Amino acid sequence: MGHTRPLLVFDSGIGGLSVLRPIRELLPRAPIVYVADSAGYPYGTKRAGEIEARVPALLGRLSERFDPELIVIACNTASTIALDGVRAALDVPIVGTVPAIKPAAERSQSRVIGVLGTKATVRQPYVDRLASEFAADCTVIRHGSAELVDLAESKLRGETADTAAYAEIMDGLLSQPDGERIDTVVLACTHFPLVEEELAAASPHPLAFVDGKEGIARRTAWLLRDKLWPDEPGEGRALFTRWAPELERYRVGLANYGLELIKGSGR
Ligand code: DGL
Repeated sequence: MGHTRPLLVFDSGIGGLSVLRPIRELLPRAPIVYVADSAGYPYGTKRAGEIEARVPALLGRLSERFDPELIVIACNTASTIALDGVRAALDVPIVGTVPAIKPAAERSQSRVIGVLGTKATVRQPYVDRLASEFAADCTVIRHGSAELVDLAESKLRGETADTAAYAEIMDGLLSQPDGERIDTVVLACTHFPLVEEELAAASPHPLAFVDGKEGIARRTAWLLRDKLWPDEPGEGRALFTRWAPELERYRVGLANYGLELIKGSGR
């Protein structure tokens, strides 16, 4: 078989790995190019205008370079801000990431839901729309954390963090008015499922954590249902948009997701 066009999985950092895992389960023979925008990381502290300008332009260049079959924007911040812009600019199917407010509302008993995302995501009108459409009878409490994104990055580099750091982040959500009634927390940043165990351990009472990764994987597999893949397992490569020698520290963590770290700028 000749050249097979890859799936391009994109995030500001390594958060998209949480989405890649279920994609790999459903499409084990699809070649993967994973791109982390290290030159733009983090997205969550940027203004919407910066993300709106950056992401379509970058995905345009990556799309020319890798000719992907489909692009998964495995990043809530980029999706809630720039998904329409990317779809308008590129002639490639795009799967985005939407905060899982709907499934959270379906399962919450207390009708108080927490949304843990980046600072940029939690203030998006997109989140207001999801809340009023799917969780109108719920109180939706939001907390944006840049530190939790960094903690997920450091975990993939094999570093261990103080449990107090996770407890403080959970407190930022649960100590808000009505926060003690939260029973379900939306992990509205793809980095956060990578530290779900740590968040659960740091919570004062049991909470259900909900995210959209399985749905994204099913949507991706459905869009590619007619595609014939090669017989062998799909190779996986990971690139960063700005190379730095410290990125070698991600090599082992990436290998656990079936990705080989490629040196050099992935722009
Ligand atoms: N993983 C990203 C998200 O889903 C963004 C993290 C960041 O760069 O701040 O929102």
